[in-house]
Amino acid sequence: MTRIKVAVKDEIIIGKGKELNVNGIRIALFNANGKYYAVEALCRHQDGSLAPGKVDGEIVECPLHSWHYNIRTGELLDYLGGVKLTTYDVDIKGNDIYVDV
Ligand code: FES
Repeated sequence: MTRIKVAVKDEIIIGKGKELNVNGIRIALFNANGKYYAVEALCRHQDGSLAPGKVDGEIVECPLHSWHYNIRTGELLDYLGGVKLTTYDVDIKGNDIYVDV
């Protein structure tokens, strides 16, 4: 694992996400009520980018066809069992956000 600075806190406002390319990996970074979560960026349905999705607590809704994922665990919450996005550890140091990839 490599810890990489990917953003500063002000870039990701509460209830929003941002897609990042970290060493060639597409990651969606979310701010859920002041806690930051990072998951793989593409929905397992048809590769929709999850970063612009609506965030409600720890849940993000894919903007394309409304599949829901828990952004802390990566788990898909509807339709199919056992589908899980890759999650990445997030570390905050001061105003800087780091992700382990
Ligand atoms: S691409 Fe995400 S729900 Fe279809």
